[in-house]
Amino acid sequence: MTKRKRPTTLAEQADKHILYQRSVQDAAASRELMEHFFGARNARHPNALREDFCGTALLCAEWVQSHPQRTATGLDLDPPTLAWARAHNRPRDPQAATRWQVRRQNVLTPTAQIDFDIICAFNFSYSVFKQRTVMRQYFEAVHRALAPDSMFVLDLYGGPDAQFLLTEPRDVDDFEYVWEQARFDPINHDTLCHIHFRFADNSEMHEAFTYDWRHWTLPELKDILTEAGFRHIDVWWDGEEDDGYVIRESATNLESWIAYIAAWK
Ligand SMILES: C[S@@+](CC[C@H](N)C(=O)[O-])C[C@H]1O[C@@H](n2cnc3c(N)ncnc32)[C@H](O)[C@@H]1O
Repeated sequence: MTKRKRPTTLAEQADKHILYQRSVQDAAASRELMEHFFGARNARHPNALREDFCGTALLCAEWVQSHPQRTATGLDLDPPTLAWARAHNRPRDPQAATRWQVRRQNVLTPTAQIDFDIICAFNFSYSVFKQRTVMRQYFEAVHRALAPDSMFVLDLYGGPDAQFLLTEPRDVDDFEYVWEQARFDPINHDTLCHIHFRFADNSEMHEAFTYDWRHWTLPELKDILTEAGFRHIDVWWDGEEDDGYVIRESATNLESWIAYIAAWK
């Protein structure tokens, strides 16, 4: 029998989902943005959230804990990630826990529930769909699952930097988060990105996460959303002259930016 090696380096001891949540996600900020975007066009209080590509479903937990009537359903394909979500992010409060669920489901498959107030796809996860027909199928499935006068929100990164190969380290408390764009193909916009984590003892969790994506442009996504049936699309932009996200029809480009698209049924 082989003995399992005891983790010695900080990288070996770390949990990649904890590191991801601490470096990439701010669930309260995402919830507040969704409330802001929704409130711009609808006086109703949004309650039912579907988080697509939910990963550890941290945002679902934040959502149900923010109001006693709120429900959240997270959809993801990966069983180990969903098991982690259930073990770590199911709300401790039993009442809130009944309103939180994660399900193993391909987001291309329509859900039986069709009265969501908000469906979100964050951290660019929809970029796994590289073909226009597949993206349209996804957007149609989202459209079907929304209640009337409800909102689908997704984020997008762009600007010239999005097409360069680069490695961007950023300090997060006691470790370093590293975003790497390892490949970008100008013909089909295929891009390969990695997240690495580095630690004070010089150990590294190399390629903790890898994303094989197509980098979509904002006008392409708007066109496909319109074809999928969305009646109105807001682009929320945070430019140099802006103090936070505002709705814009046109903007000055930046080296790199993150915008949000709110598509209304
Ligand atoms: C970048 S992570 C998402 C993390 C989280 N949404 C966030 O905001 O940080 C991408 C997730 O999408 C999931 N995924 C990829 N393709 C999927 C599909 N077709 N249906 C559902 N989940 C999918 C992966 O299993 C992975 O957990």
